Amino acid sequence: MKLRLTKQLNKSDLTIIPLFAKKQPAEEFKVLGLQDFTGKANETHVVYSENLGRMMLLGLGENKNFNPASLRTAIQTAVSASKKFKTSSLQILLRDLRELQSPDAVEIISFAAVFASYSFNYYKQEKEKINLENIYLAVPRITKAMEKAIARGSMVASAANKARDLANHPANIATPAHLAQHAKLIADKYRLKLKVLDAKDIKKENMGLLLGVSRGSDEPPKFIVIEYLPKKSSNQNPIVLIGKGLTFDSGGISIKPAERMEEMKYDMCGGATVLGIIEAAAQLKLKTSLVGLIPSAENLLSGRATKPGDILTSMSGKTVEIINTDAEGRLILADAITYAKKHYQPKLILDYATLTGAIIIALGDELTGAFGNSEKYNQQLTKAAKATGEKLWLMPLPNEYQDQLKSQIADLKNTGDKGLGGAITASLFLLSFVDKTPWIHFDIAGTAWTVKSRPHMPAGASGWGVYHGIKFLENL
Ligand code: BES
Ligand code: MN
Ligand code: ZN
Repeated sequence: MKLRLTKQLNKSDLTIIPLFAKKQPAEEFKVLGLQDFTGKANETHVVYSENLGRMMLLGLGENKNFNPASLRTAIQTAVSASKKFKTSSLQILLRDLRELQSPDAVEIISFAAVFASYSFNYYKQEKEKINLENIYLAVPRITKAMEKAIARGSMVASAANKARDLANHPANIATPAHLAQHAKLIADKYRLKLKVLDAKDIKKENMGLLLGVSRGSDEPPKFIVIEYLPKKSSNQNPIVLIGKGLTFDSGGISIKPAERMEEMKYDMCGGATVLGIIEAAAQLKLKTSLVGLIPSAENLLSGRATKPGDILTSMSGKTVEIINTDAEGRLILADAITYAKKHYQPKLILDYATLTGAIIIALGDELTGAFGNSEKYNQQLTKAAKATGEKLWLMPLPNEYQDQLKSQIADLKNTGDKGLGGAITASLFLLSFVDKTPWIHFDIAGTAWTVKSRPHMPAGASGWGVYHGIKFLENL
């Protein structure tokens, strides 16, 4: 799919005309049936005219409520709704609204258009044909800044779409080795340094937690290390991105209920997000040194599996009493955090993980829970969220709850008290490995995956964090 700017409206299969509430379209678009369109946010209304053919009026809502997030949702809604017409080209009319012509607006429109043209299409014999080949953004005049914005928005969206692909693939395909292979594709394409530690190397690094989690599966664990170190970098110490790459989470011996267990193939979304951010950063030639670390394993059960009550020794030396084998994400992240500190002296650690069901109860599926130990970096989070429409809520890390993680016989246990701030105690577990290094943890259990299809977002992986991460890094 190609995205381009155009100065003149072409005769196209579909013209999308965004409009604020209670505002009339330009004279040439006035046709019968307009009175049925109110312009409320995300309303789409298809009309036809003799000379322009098929048009879709798109509601942007009240002008005073307009923001990047609402714009992203509206464009995704319209482009998704256009699929039923099987058009090979469409154009979006930015010409008549100044609010849609700033570089920032063009960037997010481009992101949304590419993001919405995604479909996951690998496993049906009868392929759903997506014919959309060209999207034109019709503007009054073409500027360099707009051209840059188009390239940026579509690059980041393609990276996000690849992350969605990784997560949508089932766990018998998307294994730890598959994640590593995908990392290799990125590394080869952008000449990045890649190291994939296998079980033997992982043992050599003393990552007892990652090994303990993977013990119950025949699928060997991998620890992926991918470095993006640009020549002219603004930071000597890299920012380390860690992504939970649990390719299937059955819960282990503390097995999950059967209902919806199939969704646990998306427990590697954090890893996919990290690969997406690294790929987009390389493509955009970001001036920030980044290292991606993805601890990857399958949490299954077998005669060799880790059992409740077992004690594992982490790479840091801290011992962990396993109370519940389903609290495995924090274990593999903890070893990755120690690896980051030992090998990189990170300026900042960002981790992305589908870590807890508790964050879904707390914040639902629209807001990621963000936990950070640095005031300075915490403050940057909402700015990037506002610019990208990837929303989050800053969560607390109260000292008092550390007691929940005290074990009688080991340094820590891997769960807190049932029903008492589970997303927080999971984060405090991570914090005890992070210690003083600046760090932000994103619990994307609710946002990485959409259970029900919505007009702007199909069911399945959402790619949450690729766009937010890039914006956050650029703003630093
Ligand atoms: N991968 C899950 C968290 C999760 C739940 C992600 C639902 C997406 C949807 C994680 O490994 C997990 O099982 N966490 C447990 C922790 C508990 C045992 C302390 C949870 O949240 O129930
Ligand atoms: Mn689990
Ligand atoms: Zn998990």
